[in-house]
Amino acid sequence: MPGFRSGVAAALAVLAGCHRDHPQSMLHPASSASAEVAWLWWFLFAVCTAVFLITMMLLVAALVARPREDGEAPLGHGFIVVSGILLPAIVLVVILVVSVRSQVALQIPETRHTVRVVGHQWWWEVHYPDHQIVTANEIHIPVGEPVLIELQARDVIHSLWVPNLMGKTDLLPEKKTYTWLQANREGVFRGQCAEYCGGPHAMMGLLVIALPPDEFDAWIAERQQPPPPPDTELLQRGQQAYFRGGCHNCHAIRGTAAAGRRGPDLTHMGSRRTIGAAILPNNTGNLAGWIANPQALKPDNLMPNSHLPSDDLHALVAYLQSLQ
Ligand code: CUA
Repeated sequence: MPGFRSGVAAALAVLAGCHRDHPQSMLHPASSASAEVAWLWWFLFAVCTAVFLITMMLLVAALVARPREDGEAPLGHGFIVVSGILLPAIVLVVILVVSVRSQVALQIPETRHTVRVVGHQWWWEVHYPDHQIVTANEIHIPVGEPVLIELQARDVIHSLWVPNLMGKTDLLPEKKTYTWLQANREGVFRGQCAEYCGGPHAMMGLLVIALPPDEFDAWIAERQQPPPPPDTELLQRGQQAYFRGGCHNCHAIRGTAAAGRRGPDLTHMGSRRTIGAAILPNNTGNLAGWIANPQALKPDNLMPNSHLPSDDLHALVAYLQSLQ
């Protein structure tokens, strides 16, 4: 029964979206800003549901009512003025006031931290300008502190959306835009490009990792160090494969001659949780598969398939994993 089986599979997929952690849900806010957005959503949902139900009841009443003998509207002209003009005007003004109130609550507060995010087709470059750190597809923030996010696109318009923490903000090629993120609890929250940017737009994800302030400071200190040099034969072979394969033309590694800027900086690649802009966990199998055939995993992304001998591929994966 393929129909039944695919039905069960679809139901399981939907239920999987309900699992406890909700890493990408604006209805499970982890910040005051997203709590405001969620509250506004529920408020609009309630108002619109009430308007819909009342309208449907009136429609049914109109269908079953008998026409009056004198040809007048059954409920009189007063009803038309009240329910057709006055009530909608009141509802719209209330919605306007509530929306403006939420808009004010989302304004950027005073911040001590700044993160610069550059949108590329189809990944996120992440800078910590105060600490000379460059990474990709992960934004680390300290719990409980607002962080200013400075946004710009390198090519086309993208949009940063981390539903648990904040609404969407577009990244534009021609000028900077700004938003802010604050997490009220520890956790990993998934974000997504929310503006169609061509090709694998749907595979342009990122993670926001909210750490306790002391762990955040430790993370910053670790990322400021260059990665350890390759100290075994395997890792040295991996580094040679990196340069022989031309990886350095697109991917920088601090402390080496690799300085390419077209693709994500790989200085601390081994410590990242995901690859391919949050589409796959960063593990040995996925990394090898990605290097060998990124076009199969993320069709039309800008990284060409490589044709490394398997020994070189194995060594290259080990080298990238050593970049902690
Ligand atoms: Cu970037 Cu859609």
